[in-house]
Amino acid sequence: MDKPAFCGVDISSLGSGPTGSGFISLLFCFSATDLFWFCLPVAFDLYAKPGNNRTLTLMNPKRSFYQWRLRVPSDHVVRLVVVPLHGVTPGSCASHRLSAYDFLLPLQNKIITRWCGSSGAWTSPVIRLTSSSNVMLVTFSLDRRKESNILNAYFQAVPKIVCGGRYISWNGTVISPYYPSYYPPNIDCHWIIRAPLPGYRLLLKILVIQVQEPSLGSNRCDKDWLEIDGIRYCKPIGEGSRVKEYGYSVAIHFHSDELVTHRGFYIEFRAFSHTDPCPRQFKCSDKTCVSLNSRCDGWKDCADGSDEVNCGCNPVKSNCGNGKCKHHSRPCKGDGSCESESDEEEDNCAYRSCSQHAYKCLNGKCPIKQNPECDGIRDCADGSDEMNCACGRSQVKRPRIVGGEDARYGKWPWQASLQLKTYGHICGASVISNSWLVSAAHCFQDSDSIRYSIASGWTAYMGIKVINRNNDNHVAMRSIKRIIVHPHYDQYISDYDIALLEMESPVFFNELVQPICLPSSRRLLIYGTVCYVTGWGAVKENSELAKTLQEAKVKLIDQSVCNKLYDDLITSRMLCAGNLNGGIDACQGDSGGPLACLGRGNRWYLTGIVSWGEGCARRNRPGVYTKITTLYDWIRQYTK
Ligand code: ARG
Repeated sequence: MDKPAFCGVDISSLGSGPTGSGFISLLFCFSATDLFWFCLPVAFDLYAKPGNNRTLTLMNPKRSFYQWRLRVPSDHVVRLVVVPLHGVTPGSCASHRLSAYDFLLPLQNKIITRWCGSSGAWTSPVIRLTSSSNVMLVTFSLDRRKESNILNAYFQAVPKIVCGGRYISWNGTVISPYYPSYYPPNIDCHWIIRAPLPGYRLLLKILVIQVQEPSLGSNRCDKDWLEIDGIRYCKPIGEGSRVKEYGYSVAIHFHSDELVTHRGFYIEFRAFSHTDPCPRQFKCSDKTCVSLNSRCDGWKDCADGSDEVNCGCNPVKSNCGNGKCKHHSRPCKGDGSCESESDEEEDNCAYRSCSQHAYKCLNGKCPIKQNPECDGIRDCADGSDEMNCACGRSQVKRPRIVGGEDARYGKWPWQASLQLKTYGHICGASVISNSWLVSAAHCFQDSDSIRYSIASGWTAYMGIKVINRNNDNHVAMRSIKRIIVHPHYDQYISDYDIALLEMESPVFFNELVQPICLPSSRRLLIYGTVCYVTGWGAVKENSELAKTLQEAKVKLIDQSVCNKLYDDLITSRMLCAGNLNGGIDACQGDSGGPLACLGRGNRWYLTGIVSWGEGCARRNRPGVYTKITTLYDWIRQYTK
């Protein structure tokens, strides 16, 4: 316990000035004498070893003011990660306020950030702050009457880095210390960048700059700033003036003062000359440059995809003109096809060297064709690409999602509804074999009052279209015997949001119940592909569940585009899909359900699992899905 009665107020600000909100809660505490006990601060001392995440818990808070003194080993700094909870709505500083200090006492001149839920600086979903030394103080004051103001945060020890340095490089990045975490206060970093050869110049692009802006009334960047070749920047920079050309070398200086920090900056640089615009890089057809390693790696790195054109043919094979290859010894036929029977018999035609992303036949060879599996054509001489293909087909020939429409009976035969005895439908899931369903890990996290993690509480309904009308003949209903949540599931950032559910007894497949195909880790995802998300979730934000299964058409969104929209929260286990203009999306209650994409051979593949999103169907806030390709091996290990 600490000194009593500085209820939500910085010691140094008592009675002095602009942090008036703290003052209001102080008056409130003293005038309501029966509440006095509730105003005593509660202090916790926490220590994190490297590698540990320590949670700042606040369950059913009874007091109005809490503080945590965070410590890490001496050669480390404290990183605090705060995840604003759903339901914490922007409010006034009088009702809840979080402050972080670069010191163990709440001194006004050591404040790193302050959040009242309404400040513009806190619009991003997760905030990561960094201290300049191995301690940090976090205070949280709240209004007990507002039940939702519960803090969700943890901290960790991060090795202290030395910032700055000299770089001689064709291209690279310069970022503020610990970016995208907030940079620490009180730091100066100096970089010198030089092109590798005389005659080359440097092009710098400031992709992000978020630093403390000048004090009121001043126009100069006098608090925190980034200085490039003598010019200081501290305000956001417009799209048009982000790129600048410099000479053979350039000096960069970053300064932060003792107060208030932000995310910092992210700069990309590359050397070029007017005669050699992409030195040591691949020049895309649209004249942008990408790394040489991007060429033919199975991913489109150039906006126009020119890095993936004409890839399959090695020196002994020539290009048939349709992206396929033939031995020099065998001229291409009229259609240039390598899929004719005679070509297949000889098995010398449609392979390429196996890259990490290429599909591999059982015989170890890699067909040139992208995603050759289960498309009805033998692309491997051993036929292995067409084995294990009993999945992903709607059997029915005739007959929430936000912005979707009712699905036809049997169109999505892998869709299951996961229900809890007295609560009804909670989450979606997909049938992947006769004994296994796949869903989202976050559906099985216990709350204070409901044990979502107990397998026997759950029942899966399959072959249904309308919820609560499960007396239909075709309906299959199975209890759940086992729930396997991915061991790396991270509830703070929804990473590895996947769980496998084993059914009590195998389900029988019929027109209305069928498994969906799993895309292997080598399956290539093509951004822009149109896929479908299905479920009985809310038909708009904060509304009720749908009665009839809904389907909505969404497009796969480029990973880096989505990562920018979501402030670097998109890990490689996530995938975004939706419509950037808003209006179409999954929503609460769709979680765990499938994002299905049609592959060649008219088979549907489980590309994603509904996981999270900011609100539902908001503009520039697409749905985020668990990416199955990266978790394929984990799924297979249990369900083979
Ligand atoms: N987490 C939500 C659920 O439990 C799913 C949210 C999906 N949100 C979205 N905007 N796509 O049902």
